Amino acid sequence: MNPNHNFTALLMRLWITLCLCLSLAACDNSAVPTKVSYPDESDPSFVMFVNKCSACHRPPLPDSHTAQEWKSVLVRMQRHQDQNGLAHMSADEKKQILGYLKAHAKQGER
Ligand code: HEC
Repeated sequence: MNPNHNFTALLMRLWITLCLCLSLAACDNSAVPTKVSYPDESDPSFVMFVNKCSACHRPPLPDSHTAQEWKSVLVRMQRHQDQNGLAHMSADEKKQILGYLKAHAKQGER
């Protein structure tokens, strides 16, 4: 066997390892949290929110909308819920969820 061939193979393996390390490092985006955390997770309204808002998708972060926007988002979600027969909210439950979302909403028009 050609000793040079072994050396080339070794270089190649080192090169591939280096590329892998670099690409993994590029993927280590520490700005993207692996666990999303929500404000006030011990609030009973938070529990209600998670119960009713995780049936179809991940519960949204409260600061993804302003208080004003949440009102209309909830109306839309209620329509989805009633259409799908999933996670139905009573008027009281909706009020409680809206309260939680508004308390931590994105700042903007109220
Ligand atoms: C029955 C299923 C279902 C449930 C339960 C549900 N959603 Fe949704 N949600 C959807 C669907 C379908 C969409 C995408 C279409 C749309 O935006 O209307 C969506 C999209 C969203 C979006 C992204 C669109 C936007 O306007 O930002 C938000 C935020 C959201 N839902 C919030 C909620 C909240 C808060 C709750 C709990 C009250 C909830 N959802 C419960 C079905 C659901």
